[in-house]
Amino acid sequence: MANPFPEHFFWGAATSAPQSEGGQYEGGRSASTWDKWFELEPENFNSNQGPKNTTNVFDRYKEDTKLMSDINLNSYRTSISWNRLLPDGKTLNPQAVQYYRDYFKRLRDQGVEPIINLFHFDMPWWLMEKGGWENRESIDHFAFYARIAFEQFGDLVHYWTTFNEPIVHVTCGYLGEYHWPKVNNLKRAVQVAHHTNLAHAAAVVEFRKLGIEGKIGNILNLSPVYAKSNQAEDLQAKLNAETLHVKSFLEPTVNGEYPEHLITLLKDNDLLPHTLDGDKELISKGKVDFLGVNYYQPIRVEAVPTDEVNHPATSLGDFSRHYNWPEKKMNPYRGWEIYPEGIYDIAMMIKEDYGNIPFYISENGMGVSEEERFADDKGIIQDDYRIEFIYDHLANVQKAIDAGANCFGYHLWTFIDCWSWLNGYRNRYGFYRLILETGERIPKKSAFWIKDVIQQNQLIKLNQYDKGE
Ligand code: NOJ
Repeated sequence: MANPFPEHFFWGAATSAPQSEGGQYEGGRSASTWDKWFELEPENFNSNQGPKNTTNVFDRYKEDTKLMSDINLNSYRTSISWNRLLPDGKTLNPQAVQYYRDYFKRLRDQGVEPIINLFHFDMPWWLMEKGGWENRESIDHFAFYARIAFEQFGDLVHYWTTFNEPIVHVTCGYLGEYHWPKVNNLKRAVQVAHHTNLAHAAAVVEFRKLGIEGKIGNILNLSPVYAKSNQAEDLQAKLNAETLHVKSFLEPTVNGEYPEHLITLLKDNDLLPHTLDGDKELISKGKVDFLGVNYYQPIRVEAVPTDEVNHPATSLGDFSRHYNWPEKKMNPYRGWEIYPEGIYDIAMMIKEDYGNIPFYISENGMGVSEEERFADDKGIIQDDYRIEFIYDHLANVQKAIDAGANCFGYHLWTFIDCWSWLNGYRNRYGFYRLILETGERIPKKSAFWIKDVIQQNQLIKLNQYDKGE
């Protein structure tokens, strides 16, 4: 018999408003950057699949909350659409209030604890037109939005988070072409990151001011960083990557200050952002009650050959280089490494270096393309690969808990197959299969498996499960 998980462990799944809500211009909602970008350049999106309908939770949340309790989920993370709640950034949309209140209430009625996030890569278009996070005004706009959300839903939501993977809109939007505005400029990226950290802290300040019952956190993609070797140059590359990719948001969020090595790297490369008096103090007020940890794959690095380093740096590739570990196991569909032990290493880092702050695994999951090929004659996807993936990661979560980690839950990405940015529906991640043509939701084998795992509050090996033990 496997060990039980802690009592009241949060078993659940995660999604976001832009990826699942739908109801694009219904109920008073204005456009987000994703809506506009798709209208402008649909060819950039897989199979021309845009954010229009997604999983259509807006129309189907009553059914969906029921489907959650059908498989015993006791918690669920999604986000509020900023441009639905405040279509022009100032005026409260009563239809949005009604929708979210009913949605969150129904979650509670089904015994599902809502964990509600405020920003999931979805900048309102009206603010993007003014420069998005590059414009310092975005901090006050976000703090206002956060306050309104806390006031309107604080009685129903006791777990709040400010951002999802805040480094991603920085790297994908300002160091690459995966998010609008597709800028490639390190200095501007640093400015966006600084404003995002300030916006996070400003929202925490609003939360504390209102004295809302509940806790506030931040959801970070915390990948462990491994060096190719123990040689000094590789270890330096590891320190750089850890500082830039992990600690740039983790340390302000947990310790209320930027890591010293980050400041050194930025100064040395003429990349320090523009700051104002009071920024340091505001950052110090952004300390959270808990962390959400999204974990998919580790970061492996090696030193950049000295003759290839630009100084001052022009890209993150001047600080460390990706190391292709020959022994890695891959998820061939998504092109991502599968390394379940990474979850244990991250949990230990949080325990040892960050005061053992409470955290939960807010995302982990396996994207698979053309998943319909695994459907049996009843249309049930036989996703044994996903069950094994979840099992291996949960075994490491449990090992970390046994070693003293303060982990209070595990959420799969995702509940029902959802729309994924430029990839559209290319990769499926859900416990439930979404039939695109009809919107029908069909549980996969992993949904039945997790239902039993949750009921027993302990892991069940796939081969024992198949034998019906
Ligand atoms: C991370 C993001 O939070 C989510 O938006 C995305 O779809 C999943 N990972 C899967 O790639």
